[in-house]
Formats: sequence, structure tokens, C-alpha cells
Amino acid sequence: MVNKQLDALLTGEKNLIANLSNASALLGEHLNDINWAGFYLWDETDQELVLGPFQGKVACVRIKNGAGVCGAAFKNQETYLVPDVHAFPGHIACDAASESEIVIPITKNGNQIGVLDIDAPIKNRFSEEDKVLLEEFATVLIEHL
Ligand code: SME
Repeated sequence: MVNKQLDALLTGEKNLIANLSNASALLGEHLNDINWAGFYLWDETDQELVLGPFQGKVACVRIKNGAGVCGAAFKNQETYLVPDVHAFPGHIACDAASESEIVIPITKNGNQIGVLDIDAPIKNRFSEEDKVLLEEFATVLIEHL
């Protein structure tokens, strides 16, 4: 349902910041038990991820390629579903409340734009089914970028 809503919301708009802002707002409004939802965008000049539109508490601004869950997902271009962030070597604790996390790369036609990061204040928040649905959410979003 949220994925259909995203498609409708973004249709006709190509502005990156506007679309990522509305996408994070939709996740923040509709997902239970999360404390952060937003984007880190690849900065070609600085060669690191930089904070993009999000919902939640203030967060770390820059993440090196390969660092933390976000950097690992970006570097390896695969979804990272982390049931317990404290068990993930190198996890970057932006919000001390975060217990589990999912990070999905946002890449369009080989252009690595960044990652979608969602944090939860409880362990094991994201199931395999959530992963499928959130990857679908990312696919819909990418179509509109
Ligand atoms: N926990 C992330 C950093 C970003 S914040 O959660 C918003 C990581 O380890 O990459």
C-alpha cells in the first residue's frame, strides 16, 4: 500500500531532494517501531556518503565508503539487514536508541546514488518480508529519480 502511495506521490516529479524528502516522510509516517528513516547520498568529490533527507533525530553527516552498515551496503551494493546493531562490527551509533537496522543501496542504471537507511529501537525489527517490501519501495523510488 505504501509502495503504491509512493508511486502516486512521486509521479510527475523528478527533483531528487523533493522525492527523497517525501519518501522518508512516508516511511516515517507508516512504519511502526522505527526511530530513523532516511538517505545518505554519495558525494563524488569527497568520495564519501553525506546525510540526505530523513525523518528522525539529528544524525552523523558523513560516512566513509565501507564504514558502518551504510558504508558496507553502499560499497558492496547489497541490502544489509542487521537484527542487532551491537553485534555488527563497525556499526555507527548515530542515535543511541537504535537496536536494529536495514540499509538498501539506491542505484539507477549503474549510477550509485546512495543508500536508504531505516533504524529501529528494538532488535529483530525487520523480517525477510520487510526486506522484500522495502526493496520494492526502493525500486519504485529509483524509477522516479
Ligand atoms: N547506523 C548507521 C549510521 C547512520 S544512522 O543510523 C542514521 C551505520 O552504521 O552506518
